[in-house]
Amino acid sequence: MTVLRTQALCKTYASKGSVAYKALEDIDLEVGAGEFVGIMGPSGSGKTTLLNLLATIDKPTSGGIWINGTEPARLHEKQLALFRRRELGFVFQDFNLLDTLSIKENIVLPLVLEGTPVKEIEARLIPFAQLLGIDQILNKRTYEVSGGQKQRAAIARAMIHKPSILLADELTGNLDSKAAKDVMESLKQMNERFAATIAMVTHDPFAASYCQRIVFIKDGRLFSEIRRGSSRQLFFQQILDGLSVLGGNFDDIPFARA
Ligand SMILES: Nc1ncnc2c1ncn2[C@@H]1O[C@H](COP(=O)(O)OP(=O)(O)OP(=O)(O)O)[C@@H](O)[C@H]1O
Ligand SMILES: [Mg+2]
Repeated sequence: MTVLRTQALCKTYASKGSVAYKALEDIDLEVGAGEFVGIMGPSGSGKTTLLNLLATIDKPTSGGIWINGTEPARLHEKQLALFRRRELGFVFQDFNLLDTLSIKENIVLPLVLEGTPVKEIEARLIPFAQLLGIDQILNKRTYEVSGGQKQRAAIARAMIHKPSILLADELTGNLDSKAAKDVMESLKQMNERFAATIAMVTHDPFAASYCQRIVFIKDGRLFSEIRRGSSRQLFFQQILDGLSVLGGNFDDIPFARA
């Protein structure tokens, strides 16, 4: 089953001087149910633009996006807000947790907003918290826990309402390598145990090596894709090769990690 499909997706920004700037061109992408896909490309290649379109934060200039059969661009504002809340989960680089709430309150917020009964909230929270290794810190405030713990809490929050797809933009960008590994292991668990469908933008080949498939974009167009075999180490090497073929600016890549 296809969860996400884009067809001839284009995004043009009008604001770059007087000339329209094509940030994305002719993107045809399909993500199946339970797939874990990484999106990579040089700085400025259009990764965040693509993710923002998928996240319905921004609208395509032309072409279409279907998520679970619905075309969000056709929804009215209120329907779109509901669609976003029910069908999509987000994880960002800077965690986006609310500092005035406890970790637990942050995680269950989407369910509280939906009016889910307290008993059901508890029943849903516990398995996620245990699997993500954050069950011992649920009553702490965000400033009392580490970056890795915050990001795992953000994953729990994004997953607790069982979205059709989890969208992540550079979710390991603010983490050291140990915390990044824990977060990627957590994401892998979400994918394997809860069959989460995930689309993740990343610069980091180590984080990307957890994906099943990597889609490379260059200058706003799909460039190539590779699939993982049985070995993550081997995939890491293939990703490095893919990036070097791609060229462009990868100055900040930690090349020796896996
Ligand atoms: N709101 C905007 N208005 C005008 N141009 C934009 C806007 N957002 C992005 N761009 C341009 O579109 C291109 C793609 O940007 P995007 O942020 O998608 O790249 P990226 O692949 O996420 O890069 P990075 O790896 O640095 O995060 C860039 O040339 C950027 O300058
Ligand atoms: Mg970006």
